[in-house]
Amino acid sequence: MYTRLLAVLVGLACVFGVYLISTGLPDKEESATGGTKFMVPERAVDAPASEQLYKNMCIACHGDRMQGAVGPELAHIGASMTKEQLYKKISGGGGGMPAFENRLTEDQLITITTWLASHK
Ligand code: HEC
Repeated sequence: MYTRLLAVLVGLACVFGVYLISTGLPDKEESATGGTKFMVPERAVDAPASEQLYKNMCIACHGDRMQGAVGPELAHIGASMTKEQLYKKISGGGGGMPAFENRLTEDQLITITTWLASHK
């Protein structure tokens, strides 16, 4: 009698465990990558277009040689930030950095992100 009860309890614990694993783990995985999986598409660096964008939108705060001014130095930013981090910072801004998601097109954001990432 008790053996049967024990078997039922163990069975229930297993079902509950599987339930926890199946519902719990994906959440953890998602929060580890910051919510959504986001990748900047691979592109060739377009230096002329990027330099033009930089002159128009970034030079005032990051300096004419990317040496930094109001904003930090960007001359070697590709060594410390991934393309995804760069894209998020440029599109979303924050900490005194304006958001460019409504001022640049998706294509321009990817262009300047790819160019900055190549500055190692
Ligand atoms: C109004 C001034 C201003 C303009 C314009 C501006 N930035 Fe910034 N930017 C900042 C400030 C201030 C920070 C520091 C933000 C922080 O500490 O979180 C920053 C940070 C950054 C960072 C992160 C650097 C790091 O070391 O963490 C990147 C990348 C960046 N800016 C790129 C750009 C690009 C590309 C443009 C043009 C499209 C641009 N910024 C235009 C002020 C500006």
